[in-house]
Amino acid sequence: MAEAGYNTFLLKTKDIFLDMLTDSGVNAMSDNQFAGMMKADDAYAGSMTFYEFAQAVEDVLGYRHVMNTHQGRAAEHLIAKVLIKPGDVVPTNYHFTTTRAHIELPGALCLEIYYDDALKTESTNPFKGNMDPQKLENTVEKYGKDKIAFVRMEATTNLIGGQPFSMANLREIRRICDEHGLILVLDGSLVCENAYLIKQREKGYEDKTVAEIVREICGISDLYYMSGRKNTSVRGGFIATNNKQLFDKIRPWLPVYEGFYTYGGMSMREIGAMVAGVREMVDPAVAGSSVEQIKYFVNRLLETGIPVVTPPGGLACHLDAIKFLPHVPQSQYPAGALSAALYIASGIRSMERGTVSMDRDREGKEVLADIELTRIALPRRVYSISHIEYAVDRINWLYKHRDLVKGLKFVSEPPVLRFFDGRLEAIDDWGTKLTTAFKGEIGDY
Ligand code: F0G
Repeated sequence: MAEAGYNTFLLKTKDIFLDMLTDSGVNAMSDNQFAGMMKADDAYAGSMTFYEFAQAVEDVLGYRHVMNTHQGRAAEHLIAKVLIKPGDVVPTNYHFTTTRAHIELPGALCLEIYYDDALKTESTNPFKGNMDPQKLENTVEKYGKDKIAFVRMEATTNLIGGQPFSMANLREIRRICDEHGLILVLDGSLVCENAYLIKQREKGYEDKTVAEIVREICGISDLYYMSGRKNTSVRGGFIATNNKQLFDKIRPWLPVYEGFYTYGGMSMREIGAMVAGVREMVDPAVAGSSVEQIKYFVNRLLETGIPVVTPPGGLACHLDAIKFLPHVPQSQYPAGALSAALYIASGIRSMERGTVSMDRDREGKEVLADIELTRIALPRRVYSISHIEYAVDRINWLYKHRDLVKGLKFVSEPPVLRFFDGRLEAIDDWGTKLTTAFKGEIGDY
């Protein structure tokens, strides 16, 4: 951990036992997806595989226009390029790290307008990913509709624990957008988990299929983009819409930043895998695979009073680092410390989702995160219940030894998205003390 600068991103996989950093680009692909890679029509321009992909997007999501990007953040870049002007505002149900960077780099303000419940880690609210419609109305009134570049809904809010929005909320937000002529952008990176949770939690959706719910969500949104690394299990992304005018504004920038229209920064082989990935992602066995494992994981931790985000959502099991390590002040990055400690106690790689994941503001001042989470992701079709049982055992051990864990401080800090590459060190060398406790009880690695 010391070699990796107390940053789990900087670990090497040879030193990791269970890689639960992310579900991004590390899901196990299906047999059909591998076959799609082999069959891909590898042409620079006009590849039939792209047209098969466009058909799959139309069939599954209902959008007639689509372009590939090399991943989700590239889609964010192109959308920002076309829709954002300096001084604009982008209201969202919650930001994602790369999204915020692409909104703020061209000089706009990323405004989070959730209900208060969104930040309560322990909750029974089934839809903590909802946007507060009253706050959206207030935002339009305060800034004026011309300053609102677009309204962004993220399907399961990644940074606050993979929490879904409800269909009723999305419809209400749509109504307000229509009233003021605003564009509604959907980040659908985890749209299938959001749909799966709507089916389980929202009245009137019990008997609809995940496919029908995904289609309905997409029908309500003007512009869709996603990191294909998540739901489609492919290293890529795309932008899709039925608004031809908007599509035509974005399209000229595709060859500048990504690639020609029919591959857009992805390899044709990956697009071949994406054809199957888009069709398979609405299968309840795929859409629900991580959701059901996360539910199991969270419930097992709750049995022994470990502080976790509830209700369980999509993407990951999230430990509440402030409650887990109440003696570590937020300025010493409790979620980063907990992530490092979990690695020392288990060989499991998790991800810091707290203040380390926030960049400094324009004056260079530290911005404390709303919540401090250690995210233990469940990529699709990779882990079994026994892996989760191992993690539960190690987290319980760590909880008993939590007093040994102290804070972190930066030793080198990149100016943007610092969590990827930043290096930190353990205050009072607590990593060595925790390792000694581990060895004392369990023996050498
Ligand atoms: N939007 C959301 C909601 C995401 O979760 C991500 C990536 C992106 C956009 C950016 O997409 O990585 O393909 O460029 N999330 C990854 C994660 C990195 O680990 O949660 P990308």
